[in-house]
Amino acid sequence: MTLVPFNVRRGQAVFKKHCAQCHTFKAEGRGSVRGPNLFGVLDSLSGTKVKQWGGSYQRLEEFKVTWTRETLLLWLQRPAEVVPQRPGDRSCMTFRGIDHEEAHSWLLWTSF
Ligand code: HEC
Repeated sequence: MTLVPFNVRRGQAVFKKHCAQCHTFKAEGRGSVRGPNLFGVLDSLSGTKVKQWGGSYQRLEEFKVTWTRETLLLWLQRPAEVVPQRPGDRSCMTFRGIDHEEAHSWLLWTSF
């Protein structure tokens, strides 16, 4: 088995490529107009960031997923297994997922 070098810079690039058009990740501020600021999302209950942002959080709150490392990794790779898909949804809850290496790099970056 080869060890894949997940790294923080790569994680930042993944965020820029897949998430930054809708999300920010900063200690301060509301975030972009299209999606919530994800700062502090790790170990938060689903819907929490959307609520802080002022979006309609009820759907995510109902799922009662805690965004741990495990659920985030699964969701990033196979979103439909964590959050049921909803037709016409234009948020990331229906995105098709990113690959294993991208997901791990993203998580590493998020954890700093
Ligand atoms: C097209 C815009 C868009 C893109 C791209 C996008 N998101 Fe989102 N994201 C949203 C919106 C809008 C919501 C709120 C969803 C809802 O309430 O249904 C959201 C919600 C979330 C949540 C849940 C927050 C909570 O309070 O539970 C997480 C986690 C998340 N996004 C992570 C990501 C990650 C990681 C990426 C990149 C891999 C990404 N998103 C890409 C728009 C986007």
